[in-house]
Amino acid sequence: MTDSIQFPPDFTWGVATSAFQIEGAATLDGKGPSIWDTFCRNPANIKDASNGDIACDHYHRYRDDVALMASLGVDAYRFSMAWARVQPEGKGAWNERGFDFYARLLDALEEHGIAPHLTLYHWDLPQALQDEGGWLSRDTAHRFADYAWEVARRFGARVKTIATHNEPWCTANLGHGNAQFAPGVADRKSAIQVSHHLLLSHGLAMQAMRAVGAPARLGIVLNQWTADPATDSQADRDLANLEYARSVQWFMDPIFKGRYPELALRAHGADAPRVHEGDFKTIRQPLDFLGVNYYTRAYCSAEEPPRQPDSPLGVTDMGWEIYPQGLTELLLKLKAEYDLPPIYITENGMANADCLDHGQVDDQARIDYVARHLAALHAAMAHGVQVDGYFLWSLLDNFEWNSGYAKRFGIVYVDYATQERTPKASALWYRDFIAAQRRRV
Ligand code: NOJ
Repeated sequence: MTDSIQFPPDFTWGVATSAFQIEGAATLDGKGPSIWDTFCRNPANIKDASNGDIACDHYHRYRDDVALMASLGVDAYRFSMAWARVQPEGKGAWNERGFDFYARLLDALEEHGIAPHLTLYHWDLPQALQDEGGWLSRDTAHRFADYAWEVARRFGARVKTIATHNEPWCTANLGHGNAQFAPGVADRKSAIQVSHHLLLSHGLAMQAMRAVGAPARLGIVLNQWTADPATDSQADRDLANLEYARSVQWFMDPIFKGRYPELALRAHGADAPRVHEGDFKTIRQPLDFLGVNYYTRAYCSAEEPPRQPDSPLGVTDMGWEIYPQGLTELLLKLKAEYDLPPIYITENGMANADCLDHGQVDDQARIDYVARHLAALHAAMAHGVQVDGYFLWSLLDNFEWNSGYAKRFGIVYVDYATQERTPKASALWYRDFIAAQRRRV
């Protein structure tokens, strides 16, 4: 499937993780609690009643984990910084021991020639800020900009890219719309207001980091999908258009066009966000890159019960339809609708019910998934979409949010009892694929 495909010689091949999902060391070296520490304290919130206290213990094992990455031959590593580790209260004093951890991580990456791609916010807001209203409070956007400025000042010359947010759609809708994620709020109006504050915080952070003048490329990471009507009916097509407007366009339009999409605004009605004068000007900052996370498509059926897709390629362990051509379609649609900067695929991968058997994990399903998505990505690039790199989610099995440790996304298997890491067949496949790409140039 991928044998005959050639990506550009300077294409970046990476793996991705996030702080809360792998670091552990929840209270060590002065780290403050985050909303995910708090959320996990209610075991009913997480399917296996687990938490992030230890996770993959990456805080202590980062050297080995970086060596593991190096053994796979990746060019780049995408990770996030835990805000509460470097600023326990989300404002005021900086925690030097927290920054030291990330400095050590950067040292290790540098030693192995792996380019760091940093995300500032991957969902773990300092609890102290939540106590003052969290993302529902406009003030949090300003606290985020202060944090961004400090990180850019310290690390902006050592990392290749800095993304402000990871998947703000999730923070808004899963965190505040249906309480599946921290902080566990279920209120539509709040979710929509939070999405505005997240966008505002992105704009303010971009301005703050630009003022530092650091060489890192600056951008944002959005989760995106195409929305396909189940049938040709007007109702299904309307639903698909609305779904796309409420998800992809809701974040893209303010950033690239300086406004919310009309269709979604109308649907939100009285729940539409309070927007201050000048907000769109702040949000619409030029980006050096756009990060796209792609896993599946949205299949939109207005019938009751809703029609389900045929899914000839099956579904993942999350129950998500495997739909690689959606990646091609999405990227071409984005190119047609927006004046895009270069794109990174900042996440793509699958949860699979992996088992360790005699020291091996045969995850052929994941190899197929990745290979098909790479082919789909290549097809979009052949149609002129500029993509600079691909990050496989994830390096390690890790804490999959409200699914706990039960869902495994890693190309490396983690035995949580011993913390032993075992590269799965997909890790070896990815290593060989990257090497073959290099040999051809
Ligand atoms: C997107 C999120 O950024 C990441 O944290 C999560 O683990 C993966 N999707 C898989 O659900």
